[in-house]
Amino acid sequence: KQILILNGPNLNLLGKREPEIYGSRTFVDYLETIEQAFPDVQIRYFQSNHEGELIDKIHELGFTIDGIVINAGAYTHTSIALADALSAVPAPAVEVHISNVHARESFRHHSYLSAKCKGVILGLGLLGYDLAVRYLLSLEK
Ligand code: DQA
Repeated sequence: KQILILNGPNLNLLGKREPEIYGSRTFVDYLETIEQAFPDVQIRYFQSNHEGELIDKIHELGFTIDGIVINAGAYTHTSIALADALSAVPAPAVEVHISNVHARESFRHHSYLSAKCKGVILGLGLLGYDLAVRYLLSLEK
């Protein structure tokens, strides 16, 4: 099986960026843990700070892979285009946020993506990605 993990803007700075909110581990380091946890799964990882590149990746892989784990960062709260991209492809998606966005500023409370996803995991730190992969693998194809 193949799963796409898609990280949006500023998530390349995990480990350095506001560690009191997002933790001190880099995503590349965490990715190794995920790959070890799911040795039979091909994990495709893509991060971009550019909305269109995230959309292009959904188009490129969304017709063939088994699932998408998406943390679109702040685009979560702004991007109808990313929501449309998730609607356009058959791969089921899970939305992940490292922080509990509902405990933060009100502009983080709305997501354009949630309605296009099977479910949402938030506030559980990096573990949320692991749980999302686990869920997507449990789905019948
Ligand atoms: C985030 C929450 C977003 O509101 C924020 O813009 C991010 C990270 C999270 O993982 O907690 O960049 O998606």
